[in-house]
Amino acid sequence: MSSSFLSSTTSFFFIVLLYLGSFHVSDGSQKATYIVHMAKAQMPSSFDHHSLWYDSSLRSVSESAEMLYTYNNAIHGFATRLTPEEADTLMSQPGVISVQPEQRYELHTTRTPQFLGLDIHNSGLFPETGPSSDVVVGVIDTGVWPESKSFSDEGYGPIPSTWKGGCDAGTRFTASLCNRKLIGARFFARGYESSLTGQVNESKESRSPRDDEGHGTHTASTAAGSVVEGANLLGFANGTARGIAYRARVAVYKVCWRTGCHDTDILAGIDKAIEDNVNILSISISGSRTVYTDSTAIGAFAAMERGIFVSCSAGNDGPFPTSVANVAPWVTTVGAGTLDRDFPALMILGNGKNYTGASLFRGNALPAKLLPLVYAGNVSNNATYGNLCFPGTLISEKVKGKIVMCEKGGINPANKGEVVKAAGGLGMIVANTRSRGEELQAYAFLLPAAAVGRKAADIIRNYALTDPNPTASILFQPTVLNVQPSPVLAAFSSRGPNPITPNILKPDLIAPGVNILAAWTGAVSPIGIPFDPLRVEFNIISGTSMACPHVSGLAALLKSVHPEWSPAAIRSALMTTAYNTYKDGKPLLDIATVQPSTPFGHGAGHVSPTTAVNPGLIYDLTTVDYLGFLCALNYNSSQIKMVSRGNYTCDHRKTYSVADLNYPSFAVTVDGYGTYKYTRTVTNVGGAGTYSVRVTSETMAVKISVVPEVLNFKEVNEKKSYSVTFTVDSSKPSGSNSFGSIEWSDGKHVVASPVAVSWT
Ligand SMILES: *[C@@H]1O[C@H](CO)[C@@H](O)[C@H](O)[C@H]1NC(C)=O
Ligand SMILES: *[C@@H]1O[C@H](CO)[C@@H](O)[C@H](O)[C@H]1NC(C)=O
Ligand SMILES: *[C@@H]1O[C@H](CO)[C@@H](O)[C@H](O)[C@H]1NC(C)=O
Ligand SMILES: *[C@@H]1O[C@H](CO)[C@@H](O)[C@H](O)[C@H]1NC(C)=O
Ligand SMILES: *[C@@H]1O[C@H](CO)[C@@H](O)[C@H](O)[C@H]1NC(C)=O
Ligand SMILES: *[C@@H]1O[C@H](CO)[C@@H](O)[C@H](O)[C@H]1NC(C)=O
Ligand SMILES: *[C@@H]1O[C@H](CO)[C@@H](O)[C@H](O)[C@H]1NC(C)=O
Repeated sequence: MSSSFLSSTTSFFFIVLLYLGSFHVSDGSQKATYIVHMAKAQMPSSFDHHSLWYDSSLRSVSESAEMLYTYNNAIHGFATRLTPEEADTLMSQPGVISVQPEQRYELHTTRTPQFLGLDIHNSGLFPETGPSSDVVVGVIDTGVWPESKSFSDEGYGPIPSTWKGGCDAGTRFTASLCNRKLIGARFFARGYESSLTGQVNESKESRSPRDDEGHGTHTASTAAGSVVEGANLLGFANGTARGIAYRARVAVYKVCWRTGCHDTDILAGIDKAIEDNVNILSISISGSRTVYTDSTAIGAFAAMERGIFVSCSAGNDGPFPTSVANVAPWVTTVGAGTLDRDFPALMILGNGKNYTGASLFRGNALPAKLLPLVYAGNVSNNATYGNLCFPGTLISEKVKGKIVMCEKGGINPANKGEVVKAAGGLGMIVANTRSRGEELQAYAFLLPAAAVGRKAADIIRNYALTDPNPTASILFQPTVLNVQPSPVLAAFSSRGPNPITPNILKPDLIAPGVNILAAWTGAVSPIGIPFDPLRVEFNIISGTSMACPHVSGLAALLKSVHPEWSPAAIRSALMTTAYNTYKDGKPLLDIATVQPSTPFGHGAGHVSPTTAVNPGLIYDLTTVDYLGFLCALNYNSSQIKMVSRGNYTCDHRKTYSVADLNYPSFAVTVDGYGTYKYTRTVTNVGGAGTYSVRVTSETMAVKISVVPEVLNFKEVNEKKSYSVTFTVDSSKPSGSNSFGSIEWSDGKHVVASPVAVSWT
């Protein structure tokens, strides 16, 4: 394993979703990889098969260009390598919708089922056998460690007859490693390899579905891992691990490699997953924040059209506004909250005070005496970033035998531990900066170390800087359960408003994503440090990447109970039943500020699976609704064709409106006018009932009125429409926000939608 691979991928753990912009590779002839979208319906009748037509189109501009992939489901088209001139010429060929340069993306539990109210012995809501074991969750990620107990097929019946997938053999992977639990395992490397201009170096990474990174094994087992007793990381979080939909089957599509995830490979993975007949797709990889025609969104659209529920991580770029990614309205965008579990470590200072932080360190403890404490900024050879403990910056003579306080930022805290250890430090305290607030992510540090929240960090830093002889020690404590309040919104969880269409609220909801225990790869240590020989079966990591598969698993459970529900119906059920207050009625907190969180952070709220199964009413949406939404955004014909795969055009006589997309939440952008009207249609999926509306608005600046105020349903599947008028004080300063809710209830169900109003 090369150090560059491991040190770069350790950032996957926490900074999971960075979009790097367009990716051009030069291989001497200035060729780059392109994705070519074809209007399949325009194929001349002289061709027997579309692949022949694609090939002929390609040959008309280049004799030698290699066809990397032919796509049949996610898009109609192919991937190839061309010079910019060839790409331009191809663009003007008949039937070519667009020629897009390849983009590169980066990747962005024992306690969670109980925390979500899904106890193994009390899940009567979700059947133990039968339909739930026929649901297949597809995971687009870094592959899988098939030997993990989380993929044991003991007790699983035959593979569902609808399954068309299979397992690819390759480096350290044979098709026989698949079983009745792990029913699909494929890898897609052609985009990556064409950027390398050579094959994957098999001594460095597995040219197969095998996971050399850990991320994919973790997400797959979170969504649908089997039940494993006594799962823990070095004794931490010990208990029974199981995926959310632990009866469901798993199919993995490895699309991410040492340098990230090429969208040619991502599209190929989604293309195959659709063909294989997955029911759910879990994608903890970033998307574009500028347009809905990025590859993940387009592939997800095709999946949605086939009834496949797609959940995506919201990104780890919080707490800053408009940082949310994967915001297409046809995907479910998942932010991260905490669990009710902590991994405490006590920081004891020489002045007798002590502060609690978090750690997963389980090695030899510090000597039983106070050690000198230094602030990294004072013992560094780097004047600007000395506080961040970057490799090679700490001055050994000033660090040896001491506890070093480093600040968060730049590199993973586990790597800072590596730097302190290399310089001779005995221990480390990692301090949260302002933006991370009181969030405590735990790490299996290489040396005795702990992370502390911002308030404690400020006090400890001040002590280290002002005391003439500062000393400290770190005491590691057992796992603590039932921590309150929980959940709280993670500081890193990306925030709205939606950067593409502020009138669609994103993220949609939150799920557990902080310090999550799930299966791990046997290829690297839990903190991914090259020389660290430690190998574990389970690891504890954080990110919206971890929250997304919780929702994928929940969607699988709902799909098993309601096989007829569309992806939009499943999302609606999860959103309208989500909660945004604690049991005592107080609002969910945002750990970045320790103030109430808002719908820009938590969307509709935290998922509540036991109520989602019986939501009463749903907000449904179809393919044509989403395409009408793109028409409302004035997307041009080639963009519409890319998403619809050629068979939809906007009707220019029709008025399309974003305000009418039947979304289960409301976002209003005040741009000078005083009133905004939205319409919605609800479908009754409960019994007969009379629903009354209740609106709340946090400030006088927004008045919400709903017409009609009562909806009377006589039968199942009956639809009723209503309109909402938001009357706002348009003089509020730009940047102001106001929140509220619209709730329908028949006394048995509460169907709640968040409202977010922002002034531009
Ligand atoms: C593959 O990686 C190994 C280990 O780093 C290296 O020794 C070898 O030269 C590489 N092979 C190729 C073909 O680059
Ligand atoms: C985990 O819990 C099980 C059951 O309570 C126990 O038998 C086992 O020893 C524990 N393992 C660790 C590492 O604490
Ligand atoms: C930590 O501080 C509290 C109160 O400040 C004190 O009661 C406790 O004994 C201290 N714990 C340790 C281990 O020093
Ligand atoms: C230590 O760092 C602090 C904060 O950067 C600075 O104010 C102080 O002057 C430094 N002290 C020494 C002795 O360098
Ligand atoms: C400090 O570190 C940064 C980041 O590694 C580097 O760009 C800069 O040149 C360093 N400055 C000094 C004075 O060493
Ligand atoms: C459609 O819009 C895209 C993005 O702005 C642009 O690149 C493309 O040329 C446009 N196509 C047409 C047919 O106008
Ligand atoms: C596009 O075509 C497919 C199959 O040809 C069809 O199932 C789908 O409904 C069409 N979509 C639209 C929006 O017409």
